[in-house]
Amino acid sequence: MRRSVVAGVGHYLPERIVTNADLAKQIDTSDEWIRERSGITQRHIAADGEFTSDLASHAARKALDAAGMGPDDVDLIVVATSTPDETFPASATVVQSKLGCANGSMGFDVQAVCSGFVYALATADNFIKAGQVDSALVIGAETFSRILDWEDRGTCVLFGDGAGAMMLKAEDGKGTSNDRGVLSTHLHSDGSLHDLLYVDGGPSSTGEVGYLRMEGREVFRHAVTKMSEVVVEALEATGLNAEEVDWFVPHQANKRIIDGTARKLGVGADRVVVTIDKHANTSAASIPLALSVAVGDDRIQQGHLVLIEAMGGGLTWGSGIIRW
Ligand code: ACO
Repeated sequence: MRRSVVAGVGHYLPERIVTNADLAKQIDTSDEWIRERSGITQRHIAADGEFTSDLASHAARKALDAAGMGPDDVDLIVVATSTPDETFPASATVVQSKLGCANGSMGFDVQAVCSGFVYALATADNFIKAGQVDSALVIGAETFSRILDWEDRGTCVLFGDGAGAMMLKAEDGKGTSNDRGVLSTHLHSDGSLHDLLYVDGGPSSTGEVGYLRMEGREVFRHAVTKMSEVVVEALEATGLNAEEVDWFVPHQANKRIIDGTARKLGVGADRVVVTIDKHANTSAASIPLALSVAVGDDRIQQGHLVLIEAMGGGLTWGSGIIRW
């Protein structure tokens, strides 16, 4: 059975760090409120003229280096983002050009907001399994700072900018859960929940980019329920149990959502990767960023079982199990 094996990961964060105290100088908030409600202490914010494709390209180069591969080894680029440089073309084609990938490669974007990386991984995995490509660069990259209403303290304190990338390559496995690579992915959406989390603009409606709008409490409730359910779904589909999972790497939306989901699943905090404190919510970038951090500090190692889970605007939600 063809498997999509992780060959390398990498991440990039913009240089500028904005602390909660910095925000408290501009809007009516406090370090204490933000930390207590979300677990966030700081976020990185892209510089003027620094775009999503720049963040994505930096992260992608690091993933390629970690894999010992180069731009000509990339067959497919899938970028998960809700904050592309331009309405079109896709950020993936911009990244393709910035990396200098060979002409034979292809790229497109996937838009599933905070679940974007799980959707992009599932897409790339299916391209590899179908035999259409032998390698894929899967990237989550966002400049959410550009779609925040900096006068809405209920949302602007929660997000940050960043990018993470994962290089996948095809390998033959035995078809068991001991194989290295992506073992299963599970995707869902419910468009009737649009109003809980959306951006109030776009090319076809207002002609403007718009700002993020959120019903925080409702999003919180759905996030804990849906992320727990989709984790159980992934475990049942692979015949694995929660004790066998080495690392849970949830979308970093809010520390209380992460803790609530882990509690519901009976998973101890020592097996959950948390980066929300330093990165805030970077939407589609948060999972690959967290994966790259945990590989970088030797927590995630070859052979480990890693479970990723996310929920985002749409609503969309999903999970994936990867044998590293
Ligand atoms: N600083 C200080 N006070 C604030 C701030 C702020 N930044 N924002 C809101 N408040 C005030 C409100 O005005 C309100 O004041 P009031 O009682 O005088 O009216 C009070 O704090 C409580 O506001 P609530 O919105 O009810 O606060 P809540 O406890 O629900 O926390 C939060 C808000 C943090 C957004 C919470 O609902 C939450 O975590 N929701 C999940 C949303 C999330 O994480 N979204 C990420 C995107 S979705 C995703 O990635 C899955």
